[in-house]
Amino acid sequence: MEDSKGPDYKKNFGLNYGFATRALHAGEHLGQPQTKSHTNAIYQTSTFVFSSAEEGARAFSGEDPAYIYTRLGNPTVKVLEAKVNALEGAAVKLANPDLRVSTVAFSTGMAAISGALLACASAGDELLIGNVVYGATEHLCANVLSRLGIRTTDVDVSDLAAVRAAILAHPKAKAILFESPMNPTMVLADIAGVVRVVREVNPDIHVIVDNTFATPYLQRPFELGADVVVHSTTKYICGHGTVVGGLVTTTDDRVKDELYKLVKDLGASPSPFDTWLVNLGLKTLPLRMDKHCASAMAIARHLERHPKVAAVYYPGLESHPQHALAVRQMKDFGGMLSFELVGGIEAGRLLMNTIQIFTLAVSLGCVDSLIQHPASMTHACVPRDKRLQGGITDGLVRLSVGIEDVEDLIQALDTALAGLPN
Ligand SMILES: Cc1ncc(COP(=O)(O)O)c(C=O)c1O
Repeated sequence: MEDSKGPDYKKNFGLNYGFATRALHAGEHLGQPQTKSHTNAIYQTSTFVFSSAEEGARAFSGEDPAYIYTRLGNPTVKVLEAKVNALEGAAVKLANPDLRVSTVAFSTGMAAISGALLACASAGDELLIGNVVYGATEHLCANVLSRLGIRTTDVDVSDLAAVRAAILAHPKAKAILFESPMNPTMVLADIAGVVRVVREVNPDIHVIVDNTFATPYLQRPFELGADVVVHSTTKYICGHGTVVGGLVTTTDDRVKDELYKLVKDLGASPSPFDTWLVNLGLKTLPLRMDKHCASAMAIARHLERHPKVAAVYYPGLESHPQHALAVRQMKDFGGMLSFELVGGIEAGRLLMNTIQIFTLAVSLGCVDSLIQHPASMTHACVPRDKRLQGGITDGLVRLSVGIEDVEDLIQALDTALAGLPN
């Protein structure tokens, strides 16, 4: 039975609808016109069938956009890609209907970051990388891209004068990649400011934003002028801690073509089932983020007054040095915060071993709250002076605030803090 509105009717689902409406409806039902299923099918298949050699030939030549093999494309994956186009690029596409916003789903956030960087740079080119980025992004630059002849340079992206100087000093740079907010210090980069400097000094540079911490609900880099946005969907977009996944969205057709080549030739495509879970999670992103943000704000305000806490880093607090920028470029301030224990490294260890409700685990953006102490865990093997240079002090604790009752989270923190020596 043919859907009366046609098989692709939700592909460009009402870009002028609100975010929550788009999160629920955009892209849904792509690829399943014959059924009346209310939810998307999981096409858990490695390959697709041709009814004749001629049909196969048309698919391989590109004359017919049929599915061939899941590494090259899959209808379940297409649903997620179409939804993300509608979420990330709605405002830019409405402003300029000719602008194409394209998303390619990857198997992990790191595959997405690798794809985005390799789509922009080749041997002999250079890349500028935010000075505080996810550890594996640093390793990718130091251990992999360097071997491919792509030189990378760290830039303090919270300082626009440093960004300008780096662009001037590296005329072969093809892209600048950075995160905002940064992990775990919650320092921000002024996305529109970086775009402005890039356009003034070297417009050939692509601006790539890792938007994992903020999500498209809280921050939309395309509206601030960025060219490429990457996400680890492992975090808030899936939201339930069930998959690893990644996304790259771009307004640049040449980058999009490179991404398609990379995802299929590197074999970095996601599994249909994982993508289905990500799409399911994405439908409740706005609801979840509102709760994450409200609870993180309440916890940040509470910890700011606690005698065993020396400092709290959360962009929503007036005490955050870039609070005005956060208000300008974010809809709300996110579910991630970090704080400094007066008692240093021992207090951090004790807190990890005694706190209730919060799960002691890396990763972030889950419905349940996670806690970690970088100095004794993720960064334990980093030399102390290097760790301190990156703002990761002995007593720094990172919270990924979940959607539990916030009173219970505050109580759990208070009880664990009360057990720390004065
Ligand atoms: C900001 C950021 N970007 C990218 C990644 C990598 O994502 P994945 O673990 O899905 O490969 C992470 C993982 O924690 C992250 O925090």
